[in-house]
Amino acid sequence: MRKKIAIIIGVRPHFVKLATLYPFINDEFEVIIIHTGQHFDFEMSKVFFQELEICAPDYQLGIGSGIHTEQVGTGIIEIGRILRDHRPSCVIVFGDANSSLAGAVAAAKLGIPVAHIEAGARNFDLQMPEEINRLIIDSISSLYFCPTDVALESLKRRGLDKNIFVTGDLLLDSVIKNINSARSHSDILQRLGVSSKQYYLLTIHRAENTGGPENIREIIDALYEIDEKIVFPIHPRTKNFLQEIGLIEEIQAKKNFIIVPPVSYFDILVLLENSKVVLSDSNGIQREAFFLNTPCVILRDRTEYMETVEAGGAILTSVEKKGIVQSVKLENFKATLSDRSVFGNGQAAQKITSILRQVL
Ligand code: UD1
Repeated sequence: MRKKIAIIIGVRPHFVKLATLYPFINDEFEVIIIHTGQHFDFEMSKVFFQELEICAPDYQLGIGSGIHTEQVGTGIIEIGRILRDHRPSCVIVFGDANSSLAGAVAAAKLGIPVAHIEAGARNFDLQMPEEINRLIIDSISSLYFCPTDVALESLKRRGLDKNIFVTGDLLLDSVIKNINSARSHSDILQRLGVSSKQYYLLTIHRAENTGGPENIREIIDALYEIDEKIVFPIHPRTKNFLQEIGLIEEIQAKKNFIIVPPVSYFDILVLLENSKVVLSDSNGIQREAFFLNTPCVILRDRTEYMETVEAGGAILTSVEKKGIVQSVKLENFKATLSDRSVFGNGQAAQKITSILRQVL
């Protein structure tokens, strides 16, 4: 009989990683997919299942994006009930979202081994909700799948030294696997009326940039200095916040801003590949831009993935107007495609599956 593995998903980037991992894991194990429902809008969830042909989750918890304590608390209770019934050999969680924390705590409390994908990625800022999640998940995991050597070192510095594997980054696998389909299926450039390398791509969703008016004002003021089109797929949290502080109309009035709802995975890959420079506070977007050889200005003080900065593909700017304006200049960047090998060779999914086969 095949061993059971449960995979916890909840937010947009999890769906992309699941799509890449699933075919391999499903060949070896009986897989149970539990979707917490943290992301629930069509554009934030279902479109990924359709486009990437992911099978429907076995459990849809519908927990939603409430306040963090409720997301995590309800998640632990609901996921715990399912795990108690199924007793899988292992529970896989991705990254650092509240859904991942809930899944890891529920599993650990039931004595089920937790396998953490993207283990060891840290930025040492405990003000950040995701950093708290990462710290706890890594403290209670049994298997660590690190995207890079830097992540491995950060675990070792914490005194962790068992069952740590550098597998490469599933996001690199995903980009390699999907970029050709994205190029042939997505018509996003035509739909938005933009041409390759003639626009900037902007994404913002982090709590630090959407929790008070200061950071967002600096970012937007810097962008007003750019005299080219700026494509801005807007995360629901950011949209709500900009509406709350009355900034959305001001931005919409600028002719060069193209504000659109969240876009699908194929669309974002095409937008990333063709943009002149990406500006983002997402560590996923930062890595995907790097894999596609597009320069990225990181709209944060810190990043979990300094590898992209050290390779010359990204610039970490503190969130103030002057630094951002200075950073977007193309001559500041120097990455070449071959640099992406610090994130593996695009076979993280195979490696993770083969390690699970050996250790479980
Ligand atoms: C979460 C993760 C973050 C990840 C991001 C990917 C945590 C702590 N953070 O942040 O690590 O980078 O997902 O996008 O888990 N909302 C909707 N519809 C949706 C989803 C969200 O309206 O489908 C709104 C809700 O008002 C919610 C807000 O967006 O309050 C924030 O959503 P939430 O799920 O709490 O976190 P993210 O900011 O998406």
